[in-house]
Amino acid sequence: MQKLSWILNIILVLIIAIMLYMFFIVGNVKQIEDGRTAILVTKEERVQILADMRKFLEHVQTMVESIGEDDMASFSTAASGVGLKQERAPAAALIRKLPIEFKTMGMQTHEAFDNLAKMADEGAGARAVAKELSLIMENCTYCHETFRLEAQN
Ligand code: HEC
Repeated sequence: MQKLSWILNIILVLIIAIMLYMFFIVGNVKQIEDGRTAILVTKEERVQILADMRKFLEHVQTMVESIGEDDMASFSTAASGVGLKQERAPAAALIRKLPIEFKTMGMQTHEAFDNLAKMADEGAGARAVAKELSLIMENCTYCHETFRLEAQN
């Protein structure tokens, strides 16, 4: 009897571990023809993520313009506008659908923009921030090569 309850306990722990793994590591995904991983989200979640993405692009555009004009104050405002500090945490329902790599890279990218704003505030020149911006943009290109979004409802 005791042995049976031990076995049941182990099975329970395994089930919980697998569920945690599915929720926090794998996310709600499927592989698609072009080699990317599609993340399955609701229409509303897709709309929200894509709006955040366009905000990224708009701010990057302002940053590049500021580099051209050697205007580090405007550069810093554009960078901190997409930093982690100003970002609201995504809803729990969305968090569990996103693969860990997506979450990590998303957070790192926002955080990198906070650091970039700090660099500009502390007197870094246009060339130095341009170099750093190009490194951050490797995250944009890598993530786009790796993932796409698919609305389920
Ligand atoms: C954590 C992953 C990730 C990072 C980092 C990321 N993106 Fe995206 N982005 C995506 C995904 C996924 C899509 C949807 C692509 C699809 O479904 O084909 C997307 C879509 C977009 C779109 C299209 C928006 C629309 O309305 O269709 C733009 C623009 C964009 N990203 C810009 C950027 C820029 C600029 C950066 C870097 C500063 C960036 N993204 C960083 C994952 C990411």
